[in-house]
Amino acid sequence: MIEYHKPVMYAECIEALQIKDNAIVIDATLGGGGHTEGILRANPTVKVYAFDQDPDALKFAKKRLEEFEDRVVFIESNFSDLRTQLALHKVNRIDGILFDLGVSSHQLDDAERGFSFSKESPLDMRMDKARDLTASVILNTYKHGDLIRIFRDYGEEKAAKKVASLIVNNRDKINYQTSLDLNNLLNDNMKMNPKFFIKMLSRLYQALRIEVNQEMEVLNAVLLDAVHLLAPQGRIVIESYHSLEDKIVKRFFVNQASTCSCPSSFPVCCCDVVAKLKIITKKPLTATPEELQINSRSRSCKLRIAEKLNTKEK
Ligand SMILES: C[S@@+](CC[C@H](N)C(=O)[O-])C[C@H]1O[C@@H](n2cnc3c(N)ncnc32)[C@H](O)[C@@H]1O
Repeated sequence: MIEYHKPVMYAECIEALQIKDNAIVIDATLGGGGHTEGILRANPTVKVYAFDQDPDALKFAKKRLEEFEDRVVFIESNFSDLRTQLALHKVNRIDGILFDLGVSSHQLDDAERGFSFSKESPLDMRMDKARDLTASVILNTYKHGDLIRIFRDYGEEKAAKKVASLIVNNRDKINYQTSLDLNNLLNDNMKMNPKFFIKMLSRLYQALRIEVNQEMEVLNAVLLDAVHLLAPQGRIVIESYHSLEDKIVKRFFVNQASTCSCPSSFPVCCCDVVAKLKIITKKPLTATPEELQINSRSRSCKLRIAEKLNTKEK
């Protein structure tokens, strides 16, 4: 079997899900199916509903998981449609859900997909090819201020304003279609040490990918639905690779674990908020030194776990 994607913090994720007999577990980000295979092997009675918005990933994983045919259901969809998709499959309670956010190594390596700055490739970056927004559309049409925002917020790029100005000011000469159109413009105009230049490209491409796939928006949209679907003691397990993603997850967990939403100026609590989650990881788990040595992708991974409490929702 060729390596499609090496699952990050594999054992930690399977352990975190605390899979019980006859559990229904969602893998919201199937990818190459590594984590799903681990879940299926962990208990012979577990059933997995596996989502991916990329048909290529589903095709690969279906082949890999052939032997588990009767215990895995593949769903080609954005995980933001979790509730609707599960309702279509008549699933209204789940025992665990795993999110391994971002793109797979295979998607990054496939030049045609345009995720990588190191190969000449179309400025595409869509995980779901049925959508219209591509990196090319962003570079050719977004307003100056919006380009600054995505490079700054999603790329944490200090030169966001300068890069955005270069892109916008050269639109009459350059139709941004391939990675070379962007890379050459920046290389010609930003006199930088090659090492720093590569790092900047990596931040800019990450920012474009996040915007193309609306990654922060869909994460924000799915979390409440996931918690709503979880049965008591069910686990939500999230691996994120970007500080903003991790911040969204952390804030959400803290908010859902809170028993009071009164302003801090109130002398006594007068709200009737009920905590829905217990946070299992006060601090996020990170990869072991052994894993860091063999899987560079694990470097930026933060794993957070929470458990559904046995409280009635209002
Ligand atoms: C990091 S990979 C997952 C790797 C997987 N855990 C494994 O063991 O191979 C992320 C996968 O999730 C998919 N994905 C990312 N965001 C998604 C979303 N909002 N909805 C559905 N699939 C998504 C990507 O297409 C990609 O295949």
